[in-house]
Amino acid sequence: NTSPVRVTVTGAAGNISYALLFRIAAGEMLGPDVPVELRLLEIEQAVAAAEGTAMELDDAAFPLLRGIDVTADADAAFDGTSIAILVGAMPRREGMDRADLLEANGRIFGPQGRAIAANAAPDVRVLVVGNPANTNALIARAAAPDVPADRFTAMMRLDHNRALARLAERTGAGVDRIERLHVWGNHSDSQVPDVDHALVDGRPLREVVADDAWLDGPFREAVATRGAAIIKARGASSAASAASAAVDHVRDWVLGTRPGDWTTAALPSTGAYGIPEGLVAGVPVTSDGGAWHVVEGLSRSALVQERIDATVAELTSEREAVDTLGLLR
Ligand code: NAI
Repeated sequence: NTSPVRVTVTGAAGNISYALLFRIAAGEMLGPDVPVELRLLEIEQAVAAAEGTAMELDDAAFPLLRGIDVTADADAAFDGTSIAILVGAMPRREGMDRADLLEANGRIFGPQGRAIAANAAPDVRVLVVGNPANTNALIARAAAPDVPADRFTAMMRLDHNRALARLAERTGAGVDRIERLHVWGNHSDSQVPDVDHALVDGRPLREVVADDAWLDGPFREAVATRGAAIIKARGASSAASAASAAVDHVRDWVLGTRPGDWTTAALPSTGAYGIPEGLVAGVPVTSDGGAWHVVEGLSRSALVQERIDATVAELTSEREAVDTLGLLR
């Protein structure tokens, strides 16, 4: 007899949401005993399509799904919500430069941040999926100064899962036997998968793989460029795997990470690892079911540190660009 948890998903008519909403309604995100109420936010032109998805959600007859509302009004969409997954974003179009892209997204994530601050439940947790995810989360967070900063996160879990999958393939160990992996920085080509503390069945992964050249080169590149490889193969960008990563992120945040293990999430920095305060950067994290906690004090090799510096520099330049555009006020 638990009361339903309200979950808002934006970009509800899009590809990722078409996979994500069904996983949420099936109870895979918040647990098999927790009923959910869905609020779907779309732009006017796509509300009808989102209503089509809502019809299909009805038809799937999920026992845990206690209601669906579709709207183009952000205040209504975030009203009383505890989990907000911001998937809808402005894609880069022909002729758009980086400033245009950041500005177009600022116009989405600033107002959505304000609508969350004004309407969401006091325990709201926000996951930004729409790209550029880290900087969109920064913009939303800046528009919601009264919401604790650590409630705003961006998705690096797909990058994490991609790294895990490559390592499972290489070692022959199941993904659940590989622990203590994480990905630093930005959800972009500059991201830094870090295996220096990773274990396979409790043994150092570097010893098990015994091929540092592969780990430091082709492995890292394969993870960072996997999104492009999926587009090439599928003719469309990652959707079900991105949805799955969003489910993993929120599930671990709400239900906690495995004892002894950690995962990756992008959080507003509090200065750990020298990452400038406020930047939303991928870091190693655990969750106790309440909040994310950064795993502090991990050593970084010179190579990893050099790459962290580069991905952090990229995040800093994105922050400067949106600040110049007045999107952080
Ligand atoms: P899509 O184009 O299929 O769907 C996006 C939807 O968002 C569209 O239905 C659009 O109408 C809607 N939308 C646009 N502006 C909106 C607004 N202001 N409010 C509400 N809805 C709005 O795109 P797809 O494949 O679902 O991807 C969504 C986003 O996720 C993209 O930005 C993509 O780059 C990003 N992404 C992020 C990943 C990550 O790891 N962080 C991985 C894969 C994709």
